[in-house]
Amino acid sequence: MTILVTGGAGFIGSNFVLDWLAHTDEPVVNVDKLTYAGNLRNLSALEGDARHFFLREDICDGSRMLDIIATHRPRAVINFAAESHVDRSIAGPEEFIQTNVVGCFRLLEAVREASNGFSDAWMSSFRFVQVSTDEVYGSLTPSAPAFSEANRFEPNSPYSASKAAADHLARAYWHTYGLPTVTTNCSNNYGPFHFPEKLIPLCINNALAGLPLPLYGDGRQVRDWLFVRDHCAALRVVLERGIPGETYNIGGKAEVTNLEVVQMICDILDELRPDPLSGSYRRLITFVKDRPGHDRRYAIDASKIESQLGWYPRVAFRDGLRQTIEWYLDNEDWVSGITSGAYRDWIRRQYGSGE
Ligand code: NAD
Ligand code: DAU
Repeated sequence: MTILVTGGAGFIGSNFVLDWLAHTDEPVVNVDKLTYAGNLRNLSALEGDARHFFLREDICDGSRMLDIIATHRPRAVINFAAESHVDRSIAGPEEFIQTNVVGCFRLLEAVREASNGFSDAWMSSFRFVQVSTDEVYGSLTPSAPAFSEANRFEPNSPYSASKAAADHLARAYWHTYGLPTVTTNCSNNYGPFHFPEKLIPLCINNALAGLPLPLYGDGRQVRDWLFVRDHCAALRVVLERGIPGETYNIGGKAEVTNLEVVQMICDILDELRPDPLSGSYRRLITFVKDRPGHDRRYAIDASKIESQLGWYPRVAFRDGLRQTIEWYLDNEDWVSGITSGAYRDWIRRQYGSGE
């Protein structure tokens, strides 16, 4: 048996591949285009490991996807491949439509076509897991109940709109063709290998470099943070026991404002790597222009996956954040390997001057 993972060189995908092979010997075929966000160094622990088979491919290439699926006959496809950064989707949405919508469509089509050559037994145990986001549900007011699977889709950014479109395609392929798709809608992840364009790794790295810690608007937006390995565990459970045609919300029960997140990062760094220049890294916190259309609050009601599949988040935010900061302090060479070239150009465009 084999599973096919797409986007397995990115943040969550690489954590998933490592986590998967730590739990089972079932091989992984890993398809990744290696965009700016894909990094094979995330998978260096698997060098020489015959259970991991990497292919540099674009999920938008339907005939290659068909060929790969027909050759490897995976029992499941888990689609992580995406453009994932909201700010980049605002600066340039085209790539998001291509990979997130067209790419998901090509993958679904490839599975549908390949399945003609496979037995009914293969089809009934097969799963296509579409890894999606809580952002498809839009934004919550401060007192609104957390998103449940029954919430309507109200995506507000080109990124979340593209993910919502893909989720609809996954649903339609189950209802129309009987292709066993399951969709997961997860809240904000954090942990090792998080690309430093995102809030938490950006602020850890900027603090260590003595650079401003940019908070959009008033910094009071709320996100529901989940340690990435808890997400990986949830996906393993969904793959094992998820019901075709269903969607599952996944979240960390950890609603925190961005300002609080950045203050916590500063406080942990003050303890682990005291700033030689002043009392606290908090002096670097800087309020900057808000993100256009910035969603105010996300929160996930994960009671469905908890009660039906028995998954719960295990890592408390404060503990996971400390582990994450320790990982970045121990892996400064990983960060310096990616914070050059194209990354610096992006930071200059997004935040104006310097890094
Ligand atoms: P990421 O940007 O770190 O990684 C994306 C990976 O996909 C990269 O390795 C990239 O090279 C690859 N990729 C991009 N375009 C591709 C293409 N056309 N063909 C093949 N590979 C391609 O993203 P992430 O944060 O790891 O997110 C993974 C998935 O999880 C995404 O679908 C995202 O929408 C979803 N998600 C992310 C979060 C989060 O907090 N990061 C939360 C919920 C859901
Ligand atoms: O909710 C799940 C989503 O979480 C995923 O689907 C996305 O792929 C992932 O990128 C993430 O989206 P966010 O936009 O919430 O993550 P980001 O780290 O970019 O921002 C977190 C919050 O911090 C958000 O309110 C914007 C704010 N922010 C972000 C950056 C980069 C700042 O205030 N300053 C910044 O410089």
